Amino acid sequence: MDTQLRRLILLLALCLIPTLYFFFNASWRLPVPLKPSHGLVPANATLGFGAVLAVSHATSPRRKDLIFAANLTGIELTIPDQPKWTAEDLDAFRSPEKSRIKKGSALAWMGHLNALTWFLSTDLETALILEDDVDWDIHLRSTQVPLAAAAMRQLLSTPSSPNTTIPLPSTYWGPLTWELLYLGHCGDFFPSTQLPPSHLPYADLSTPPLARLHTKTAAFLRQLGITSHMRIAHRSRWPLCTFGYGVTRASAARILAEFSTEGEGGCQAFDVRVLEACRDKQWACYTINPELFHHISAPSEIANVDQGKEAGGDGAKGIDEQGRLKKQSLKGTTNIACGARQRAFYTEDGSTLEWLKGVVGGKGVCLVDMMEEDMSRWP
Ligand SMILES: *[C@@H]1O[C@H](CO)[C@@H](O)[C@H](O)[C@H]1NC(C)=O
Ligand SMILES: *[C@@H]1O[C@H](CO)[C@@H](O)[C@H](O)[C@H]1NC(C)=O
Ligand SMILES: *[C@@H]1O[C@H](CO)[C@@H](O)[C@H](O)[C@H]1NC(C)=O
Repeated sequence: MDTQLRRLILLLALCLIPTLYFFFNASWRLPVPLKPSHGLVPANATLGFGAVLAVSHATSPRRKDLIFAANLTGIELTIPDQPKWTAEDLDAFRSPEKSRIKKGSALAWMGHLNALTWFLSTDLETALILEDDVDWDIHLRSTQVPLAAAAMRQLLSTPSSPNTTIPLPSTYWGPLTWELLYLGHCGDFFPSTQLPPSHLPYADLSTPPLARLHTKTAAFLRQLGITSHMRIAHRSRWPLCTFGYGVTRASAARILAEFSTEGEGGCQAFDVRVLEACRDKQWACYTINPELFHHISAPSEIANVDQGKEAGGDGAKGIDEQGRLKKQSLKGTTNIACGARQRAFYTEDGSTLEWLKGVVGGKGVCLVDMMEEDMSRWP
């Protein structure tokens, strides 16, 4: 009797520890595990693009868990090799007289150019470019991308001029009249009076409810009349950060032609140049709001390099002089409900990964939420 009781207590304790761990780690997440794909056809392994490319140098400390998250969620990732940039490369990139860019930002920019060059060396029509520290929801392929792509197809199939007699061939992401597709950003905010005529709100149950979004994101959506579990596809206004963006061959060539160096007048970062192109130069940029990709909360490697630290060391908390979203919560990735990169999922055990692929990536069950539900069964 005594030993049985002791065993029972031990068993309860063993069950409770991981539950508590997950509860405190994940208490902000969706209370109910989302049903998988609502009858949607999941996107293919490259999310309807020709390829999903990651901007990541060979010794990036973020590469391992980026690849893990891609495996977990069934995404085929290509990481183009980057040359080892030399001081000469850097000098050639910088503005000769008015350089304002820090080393880390310059290297990141050159990484983007390298990925775009790689893309143009193939015969692919489109590519999605990801920075290597982005996170995404486990429903990306099953729910979020099919819905976002359907919204883009609908948005772009409405002819903008009556004399377009020959419609462009449509792709998974609509006719290639777009140049940049901001799926990952750190805010494209504007007052409702400036909502571009080209916009389309749509339901996406995997979007965190307004109360779980960054307060700035939530306030922005509220004044547009966007309610919980909705997103909006729209012509970009102020898209900050190039976390994840789609390009076509034409737009990749245009970026390489126009932004292959810091530029005469100097510029702080690649994403600032691209924002200016969208905001001031009428490039055909579109945004999915709220975003499908957001940076993980780890210290930025850009900041690390700028502070002369080794990659992976402790970096500055924020680099957002430009008003980019600063992290508000210690838990999870900003504006992502069930991040594929959360530490609880990570494993180096092949058979555990296979199991997780089926349940988390395949069925779209955020196990973390289930642990949380289990918690409520305890008295
Ligand atoms: C995914 O779909 C796109 C668009 O139809 C296509 O170009 C690409 O090759 C497909 N990728 C895979 C891995 O099937
Ligand atoms: C992820 O998949 C790639 C290619 O399919 C493979 O090379 C790699 O080892 C996998 N990573 C893990 C962590 O299983
Ligand atoms: C549409 O037609 C008008 C007048 O014929 C012409 O000026 C304009 O360039 C055309 N627009 C496009 C997109 O072809």
